[in-house]
Order: sequence, then C-alpha cells, then structure tokens
Amino acid sequence: LEDLDLDNIDDEVPAPHRVTDRYAAVPRSEPGLFVNTPDTDPAVAVHRDRARAILGRVESSTLGLDLPRITDREHLDEALEKAAAAQWGAIDRRAVLHAVGVALEEHRDTLLEVMAAEAGKTIDQADPEVSEAVDFAHYYAELSAELDGTDGAAPVPARLTLVTPPWNFPVAIPAGSVLAALAAGSAVVLKPAGPAERCGTVLAGILRNALSSAGADPNLVTLLQVDEGTLGRELIAHPLVDRVILTGAYETAELFRSFRADLPLLAETSGKNAIIVTPSADLDLAVKDVVSSAFGHAGQKCSAASLVVLVGSVARSQRFRTQLLDAVSSLDVGYPSDPRTQVGPLVEPAAGKLLDGLTTLGAGERWLVEPRKLDDSGKLWSPGVRDGVRRGSAYHRTEYFGPILGIMTADTLDEAIDLVNEVDFGLTSGLHSLDETEVRTWLDRIQAGNLYVNRGITGAIVRRQPFGGWKRSAVGPGTKAGGPNYLTGLTGWAPRPAAT
Ligand code: ALA
Repeated sequence: LEDLDLDNIDDEVPAPHRVTDRYAAVPRSEPGLFVNTPDTDPAVAVHRDRARAILGRVESSTLGLDLPRITDREHLDEALEKAAAAQWGAIDRRAVLHAVGVALEEHRDTLLEVMAAEAGKTIDQADPEVSEAVDFAHYYAELSAELDGTDGAAPVPARLTLVTPPWNFPVAIPAGSVLAALAAGSAVVLKPAGPAERCGTVLAGILRNALSSAGADPNLVTLLQVDEGTLGRELIAHPLVDRVILTGAYETAELFRSFRADLPLLAETSGKNAIIVTPSADLDLAVKDVVSSAFGHAGQKCSAASLVVLVGSVARSQRFRTQLLDAVSSLDVGYPSDPRTQVGPLVEPAAGKLLDGLTTLGAGERWLVEPRKLDDSGKLWSPGVRDGVRRGSAYHRTEYFGPILGIMTADTLDEAIDLVNEVDFGLTSGLHSLDETEVRTWLDRIQAGNLYVNRGITGAIVRRQPFGGWKRSAVGPGTKAGGPNYLTGLTGWAPRPAAT
C-alpha cells in the first residue's frame, strides 16, 4: 500500500483498465457448466438455506395491510388535500432518511416474502432489490443535505410528488422514487402498480412507520390506488400534483403528457437493449452475462438484454451459439417457492406482444432454443432464443419484456453498433471485448444511458452506476436515479423536448 499514490487514483478509471482487471479476476469454466453453480459451492449453499427459511414463511407475511382505493373525484380531492398538507417542517431530513434506510434493512425478510409471493421474484433477484432500496435511502439522505446547501439559496420544493412505479421492481423503484422526492423536501403520493399492490402497501407501511419513529409526519407518504381507466387522468392532471415520477412504458409517459401537456414529468421508460460480442471477447464470460441479463426475473426488466449481436468470427462459428444453447437449456424454470428456480414466472400470463414474441418467428428467424409454456396459468415459460433476427424486423425494434433473446450478426463492430443504435430506445447496452480500441470505439458511438463492459447489463448500483436512458428510454430532464443530479431534477428543470 505504501507504494500506491492514493491521491492520484482516478475514480474514472478508463474502461479498458477495468476490462483487464475484471478479466484477470474471472475464473474460466468449462463450456456448458457456467450457469448452474453447483450445490456444493458453500456460498450458494448458504444462499439457498436462507431462501428456504424465508420462502417457508411466505404465507405468513404481512400481506393484509389496507390499501385505500379511491373510486370518485371527491375522495381523490380529499386524499390529495390531506397528502399535500403534510410538511417536513424544520426537521433534519438527512437524519430521518438515514433512519428510513435502517428500517428498510430491518424489514428485509418481509420485503423478500412479499416480492416472492406477489411478484414472482426469486430470492437472488429480490434480495439485491432490498439492498438497492436501502442504498437509495442513505444516498439521497446525503444528497438532501447538499441540496439545501449553505448559501441560503435552497430550492423551493414541490409540495406534492406523485410516484407511479412499475410492477417489475416493486420495492427498489417505488422506494427510490419516493425517497428522492422526500429528500427533495416534497410530500409524496405513491400509487403502486396494480400487479404489485401488496409490495407497495408493505413498503408504504414501512416508510410511514419509519418517518413517524424518526419524528417526521408519516403523512409525507400517502398510499392510494385508483382505477386507471376511470380516475387515471384525474389523478395525473390534478392541480395539487406538482410533479410525477413515472417508471413504465414510453407510451405511458406519452399518455401522461396527453393528460396534461405542461406536466413536470420525470420518467424512465422502455428499453430494447443489446450486448455486442466481438471475436476478442472471453466467450465463456459473455455467455454467462448474456444469459443472466436476458433471463433474470424472466426478462421482465427494462434493463434486460433482448438482443445479442455477434461480430465477425463469433457470428460465423457455432461455438457461441452452442454454449448459449447449453446454458439456456440448463436454466431451472419454476416458482420462487422452489429454491432451485432461476427463471421465475411472468407476473401476468403471456398475452399480446409478449405472447407473439414467445410463439411467432419473423422472416428468416429460427429457434435456437424454442420457448415452451410449462403450465396452464400461462405464466411459466421456458426461455427462448431466436437466431437470424433481421435488421429492421419487429423483433429488432420492439420491447417484449419477457424471457426471449434474439441473435443478430454483423461483420464489424461498427456495423453492430449501427444495429443497436437503430432502435428508438437507449437504456442499457453491453460490450464483451478485450480489445482496448474496440472498447473506445463502442464507448464513443453507442447510444444508451447505462453502458457495461464485460459484465451483465442489469443491476445498476446506486451512486456507482446512476441509472437512466436516453432517446425514448427517458422523458423529462434526463437525470439518473441513484446519481448526483437526481434531486436537482426534482426541484426544477427545463423539460427536454420529447424524443422524436
Ligand atoms: N435499475 C435496474 C437495473 O439496473 C432496472 O437493472
């Protein structure tokens, strides 16, 4: 350590050096054996014991909390008036938000239970989600102190922020959005996504209790549900709602804007994300990362890999495809109550676009691994991989939000980047390459908010990898969740024009 010049260690180490370090640290494994970690691995054994203990209690979790359901305008007005009346007052928001972080950690097991039971999350997917929520609390606690500053120019906070989260990250995303709004000095209304109402209810209960225990007004967090068809517009366009944090489809952001054109909206929207694999890549590592990025939580992530683009000799040879086929076929598909499960159920039975994606091939495509419906509920599907996806095809451009991966090919890295940049979205993107020039070219040219070199493209880490996209993957100021500008994005911004 004495030999290190600690003052000159740059946090922004250029990517190629990280690549080399990571590569050196990654143990190589035999083809076909890199997805299922053997049960004999002590780390996995501990993990699975914990999973068994927690999942054994799923039915006894605190799922019966009350979710207020608002059914008419009069009650909506009343609920929002009460919510908007909540004040932070002179209390130290930083201390309160740190206390909320501690409370979330204390309720980790309850949150895991409800995520497994309601959202079909396996423990390995749900556990980091709680960690992310805890990280948001502590990170935004610190940012809240910076936001107020000492120059007397504290921004005027929004009175009331409406948070409309998705069902796929039913704890981390609502927690992050609510905590950011709280940290920015606002009161919050949380309207959970329909398929994740119990997660939202448990989360809101934890947040309200923690606020109260820390001496703050629990009504700073109001939980309510409305029927989107009848009261959605009334809620979004309500004069008491000062701004909205949305995570959902790009179409939903457009719908919100159609309800109220001047709506201050901070939205993280859809993705159609790709990982490019060049001939210089460590193919074993690439297969592992493609599989986890495509099929974690059954692909129901805006950040998921939906395409892999094979370049040059990787495209021409069968090696990558063979390893991918082995790896995908070896995945255990099931419900979270079975600790072997790696690919869990769909939150809603496959229908519409997703069902098409699971059953219908486009011109020139063939199944490398054909997806199969595994039970009558329509929720359990084995993952599928389609080869031969053509430029400009439906699969190339559409977000499916399920356990499907498509393979495209390109002669050169530049051509692969063109294919990726051609889609309307730009959320996450990955490159597997051990060539420094290739990494630089890709970093210069690729159009996405979150870039990952030689690792999976899901699971951004608060503070270290602020999360958010560009093009049609973001609407609003474009500030990233878990990043240093997110609170400023909530306290006032000049909305960017919608992407064309
Ligand atoms: N923040 C989530 C991820 O990075 C969506 O996967």
